[in-house]
Amino acid sequence: MDALSILAAAALRLRWAWGRPDVWLRRPRMDVAGKHVVVTGGSQGLGRALALLCVQKGARVTVVARTAAKLKEACADIASAGEGFGDRVQHAVLDVSTASCEQVAEMLRQASRTFGRVDVFVANAGTGNGMLLFGVPLSEVQATLENQVSVNLVGGLRCVIAAAQLMASDGQGGRVSIVSSVAGLATCPGYSIYSATKFGHRGFLAGAYEEFRRHGVHLSVFYPGSIRTPGFASEQENMPLVTQKIEAQCSDISSRRVLRGRAASGHRGRGPRNYQ
Ligand SMILES: NC(=O)c1ccc[n+]([C@@H]2O[C@H](COP(=O)([O-])OP(=O)(O)OC[C@H]3O[C@@H](n4cnc5c(N)ncnc54)[C@H](OP(=O)(O)O)[C@@H]3O)[C@@H](O)[C@H]2O)c1
Repeated sequence: MDALSILAAAALRLRWAWGRPDVWLRRPRMDVAGKHVVVTGGSQGLGRALALLCVQKGARVTVVARTAAKLKEACADIASAGEGFGDRVQHAVLDVSTASCEQVAEMLRQASRTFGRVDVFVANAGTGNGMLLFGVPLSEVQATLENQVSVNLVGGLRCVIAAAQLMASDGQGGRVSIVSSVAGLATCPGYSIYSATKFGHRGFLAGAYEEFRRHGVHLSVFYPGSIRTPGFASEQENMPLVTQKIEAQCSDISSRRVLRGRAASGHRGRGPRNYQ
């Protein structure tokens, strides 16, 4: 390749990335082998799939959720997936919607006694029920609002701040990721409350990224499309019709994205990815 072609390619890349903070903020992939990864909401769905993937790649993984029975089942499942996997997965019970930052930090300190310092933290625990705001009793709207804000936004951010502080405090840094959603980038009727919580992750990252980066902690936000999980199934049952219709079109966009990554994920194209 001559110098002119290299310059042209660089100019094209710059033009594509201009004004897209996610592109500029993207970090090189991390090898999790030998690292301690903590995943909230790790007892089912996306979190459990991520926990298994990390164990397969050689990490020690702590899965966190509210229900001890589901956590034990997830650990047993992961343990049975490969030789020695059982030695590299453990669980911790914590409700992110009520735990203080200090309680999250204490849970992480406890987890590190067996699996070493926390190198990677994924704030994945989340909930989302579509709901219209007009024609629904105010008490129901308020209950949904408070539940989603306390789990997705306040709960997620408490975890992220506690994990990032802990990683920064010993000078070794680490990676912290928040699971948002495509509904954290674009929204529609029925998703206003869910989106308010998921857009919040992006705002938080924009403010906190540089501060923690100086201490070796890299924050990121993940914006997945539809994924077939237990949470997705219950969300579908209660979704307003208008949201279902719009969501079906969004899933189509999402599946094209999925198609591009199918070699890596094993996904075969249309429809949500499948993580039970
Ligand atoms: N599935 C999708 O289509 C989709 C699309 C975009 C984004 N997302 C996001 O991806 C994340 C995972 O979604 P999913 O579909 O895998 O969810 P899911 O199947 O409902 O699983 C949720 C997990 O979070 C745990 N959890 C729920 N509330 C919690 C709390 N207060 N404290 C601690 N743990 C809690 C659950 O266990 P317990 O109930 O035992 O606590 C479970 O392990 C969520 O943040 C979701 O918003 C999902």
